[in-house]
Amino acid sequence: MSKKGVEFVCQNCGSTYPKWQGKCDSCGEWNTIVEEKSGGEGYSSISPKKKGRMIEFVPLTGEEKALTRIDTGIKELNRVTGGGLVPGSVILVGGDPGIGKSTLLLQVTAKIASSNTQDECYYISGEEAIDQVRIRAKRLHLETSPVKLASATEVKDIIATLEKSNASVVVIDSIQTMYLDEVESTPGSVAQVRACAYELIKLAKKKGFVLFLVGHVTKQGAIAGPRVLEHMVDTVLYFEGERGHHFRILRAVKNRFGATDEIGVFEMQDQGLVEVENPSALFLAERQGNVSGSCVFAGIEGSRPVLVEIQALVSQTSYASPKRAVVGWDSNRLAMVLAVLETRCGMNLSSQDIYLNIAGGLKITEPAADLAVAMAVISSLTNKALPSDTVIFGEIGLSGEIRAVSQASARLKEAEKLGFKSAIAPSNLINKEKVQKNRNIAVHEIGNVQRLINWFS
Ligand code: TYD
Ligand code: MG
Repeated sequence: MSKKGVEFVCQNCGSTYPKWQGKCDSCGEWNTIVEEKSGGEGYSSISPKKKGRMIEFVPLTGEEKALTRIDTGIKELNRVTGGGLVPGSVILVGGDPGIGKSTLLLQVTAKIASSNTQDECYYISGEEAIDQVRIRAKRLHLETSPVKLASATEVKDIIATLEKSNASVVVIDSIQTMYLDEVESTPGSVAQVRACAYELIKLAKKKGFVLFLVGHVTKQGAIAGPRVLEHMVDTVLYFEGERGHHFRILRAVKNRFGATDEIGVFEMQDQGLVEVENPSALFLAERQGNVSGSCVFAGIEGSRPVLVEIQALVSQTSYASPKRAVVGWDSNRLAMVLAVLETRCGMNLSSQDIYLNIAGGLKITEPAADLAVAMAVISSLTNKALPSDTVIFGEIGLSGEIRAVSQASARLKEAEKLGFKSAIAPSNLINKEKVQKNRNIAVHEIGNVQRLINWFS
C-alpha cells in the first residue's frame, strides 16, 4: 500500500514511484529514490469557474526579432552557447562538485560586467559565504569588476530583489541550495529544485535576463541532480574533466539557440580557467613518438576537429576471463571492435588483457574512432609502432568494412595544420575530390580491417 500524500522520487531523473525501490527503472541508478511529500506541483483539474481565453494563431512566416546576443568575452563559452548569451534564456551548468563551475561563472559575470557597464550582473551564491567568493575573485584578479554579489537561498527574496533590478545576467550557484517556503520538502529535493527553478525561470523570461543555474551532479540520491531540470531550460552545458588533469571541457548537450555537442576547452590554472584555443596541440603535447599501442585519432567535437592520442595496451592475461578496461570511450564499442578483429581477421585476443585510454581525459563518443582503436590494439599486440606522423579515422562495420565518416576534409586539414604527413582513412571518403585537392597530406584509403592489418605488417 502506498502512503497518502507521499511519493517516491528518483533524485537523479525525477521519475516517481508509488513505493520505494532500490533501483530506478527509468534511469537505472541505484539508491536514488527518496520519499517526498506529493502534491507540491500537481493539481486535480482545471477550475470550471474560470473560462479560458481564446488564443490567437499566426502564420509560420512573419516579422522576427533579430537575436541579439551578449558577448561573454570568453570565446570558448561563446562557441558552446552558439555565439553568445541570448537575453531571456536559461542556461543550466552541470558538473561534478569541484570541477570549476563557480570559477567559470564568476569569470563570465565579471567579464560581462566590466566590459559593458549597462549590463548589470548578479552573482547569488547559496553555497559560499560572501568572503569565500571575494577570496576567489581576488585570486582571479577580478575584484574590481562591478558584479553585484549576494549570499542568499530564499527564492522569494531573490525574486523580489531581481524584480526591481535591471539585471542582464544572473547566476544562481547552486539551484540545489535554493528553497521556497511553499514547498514542504527539504532544499535539494526534486520538488524544491523544480519549484525554485520554475519561479526563477519565469522571472528570467519576464525580465529578459540571462539566467545561469548551477547544478551539481550527485552520485548519491541525497540531492536532486541537474537532469531533473534539463527539460525546463533552454541550454544545458556540462562541465567535464578528470580530477588529475588540468583541462576542463564544457559540452553543450541541449541548446535551443545553437548546435549541440559543441565543446569549449579550458585549462584550470592558478588564476582560474584559461581558454584553450588549439585543443589538438594540448591533447598531443605529451605524446611520445614511436611507441607501440599509440595512434592519433582525427576526431570532430561539435564543429571543430580535435586530434587526440589513443593508447592501447595488450598483455597476456593471468585471469580466467581476460580484462577489458576503457577510459574515455565506450566499452561496448571496444568489445565490438575486438570481436570484428577476432572474427574477420583471425586475431586471437581471448587470452589477452586489453586496456584502452584516451590520453588527456577527453571522452570520445564518435564511432569514427573505431579504426584508431583497432590500430592501437593491433600495434600493441604486434609491438610495432605506427609512423608518428600519421593520423587515422573511420568507422568499422560488423563485417569488417570501413565506413565513411562525416567531415573528412576538416579532419585532414587539422592534421595537416599540426604537421602530420599521412592519414589512414575510409576508402569512400565523402566529397572525394574536395578532400584530395590542395592537401599536403598523403591519404591511404582503406576499405576493410583486413587490409589495414596487411598494410601495417
Ligand atoms: P569551483 O569553481 O569551486 O568548483 P565547483 O563550483 O564546480 O564546485 O572550483 C574549485 C576547484 O578549482 C578547486 O579545487 C580549486 C580549483 N581552482 C584552481 O585551480 N584555480 C583557481 O584559480 C580557482 C579559483 C580554483
Ligand atoms: Mg561551486
